[in-house]
Amino acid sequence: MLEIIDGKSYTFSSPSKIIFGLGAAKSVSEEVKRLGGSKALIVTDSILLKADVIRPVLESLEAAELPYAIYDGVEPDPPTELVDEATDKYRKEGCNLVVGIGGASSLDVAKGVSVVATNAEKVMEVCGFEQAAKRGAPKILLSTTHTAGGEISPYVIMHMSREDHSLMPIVSEYAIPEVAIMDPLLSVSMPPTVTLETGFDTLVTAIESLVSSTANPFSDVFAEPAIELSAEYLPVAWAKGSNLTARYYMCLAATFAGVAFVSASVGAVHALSYAVGSAYHLSHGRSLAVLLPHVMRFNLPGNPAGFARVAALMGKDTDGLTTLEAAHLAVEATEDIMEVVGVSTRLRDYGASEEDLQRLTEETAEMAGFFSNNPRDFDEEKTRSIYESAY
Ligand SMILES: [Fe+2]
Repeated sequence: MLEIIDGKSYTFSSPSKIIFGLGAAKSVSEEVKRLGGSKALIVTDSILLKADVIRPVLESLEAAELPYAIYDGVEPDPPTELVDEATDKYRKEGCNLVVGIGGASSLDVAKGVSVVATNAEKVMEVCGFEQAAKRGAPKILLSTTHTAGGEISPYVIMHMSREDHSLMPIVSEYAIPEVAIMDPLLSVSMPPTVTLETGFDTLVTAIESLVSSTANPFSDVFAEPAIELSAEYLPVAWAKGSNLTARYYMCLAATFAGVAFVSASVGAVHALSYAVGSAYHLSHGRSLAVLLPHVMRFNLPGNPAGFARVAALMGKDTDGLTTLEAAHLAVEATEDIMEVVGVSTRLRDYGASEEDLQRLTEETAEMAGFFSNNPRDFDEEKTRSIYESAY
């Protein structure tokens, strides 16, 4: 039940148009025309370009005789300079619309180009919270992975540089795309590890949105099916990548989780994951998965009813149980998934030593923003106790 607190209001925002379905990528040219685009900059990475994953988008534009240029320099954990590089190309090529296609990094760079193109010379001028004064260049985003809502959110996650991995985000309403297109066919060629790791991002994001202290009726509508679908179909998509039903529902879960967290926000699993990811060179999704059961067990007293709902959504039979008993089953349900897909939730299995735990704790203190909506209050000691239990 929603806790009613005077003066508390909720914000719901999403792209004004979401096109979802098998073959949806073909509609890109129609949307480019509708948005007044005369030349698009396609932002992607070289692996997707070589593997021809973006073919449906190129064919759609070519059939409509719409010119385009391609920037394929996107790297994982993109440094800010990539946005400047891609924006230079956008300007030199005379583009007036951005099409981002790929994983979270490509979508981040595409959003960055859009905001910089109309607001600044260089990306650093618009980094931070709502620093852009004007609407970005029109953009259409297509996700090719199961990551939660990169095609939906107002966040552009970048690292300062290739050497300095500190986060340098843009948070801007103007980074939300005009159109998000989710075509499950684009995700079919994803290898099992990427399927798994991007799928974890969706599962974790959906769970964190549902138990967040800012969860609300709008976010719940999307978080609940996102949990249900990702818990059921993540192992299937990992085990059998060509299973279209699993791909379809994982893509749906990813979009739903994106809409949910933009309204409700994520919490401590995300907060603790960044230090782990950079210390042991783990992907975003893998570092979330390692920490998920440990953080859930810790968070449980802060929102037992929320975790009991998570347990039921993940298929656990909670009939006749107390709320706390049911909530514990949510932790068990996540451990069941980790076991079946063979993912260790022990930091030592990724090369951690006991001496690392203090450094991880100190680095996590910089993520204070993520803790504000976590269901349980945090301090340094509590952060350390979770790293210890995960060790
Ligand atoms: Fe995430």
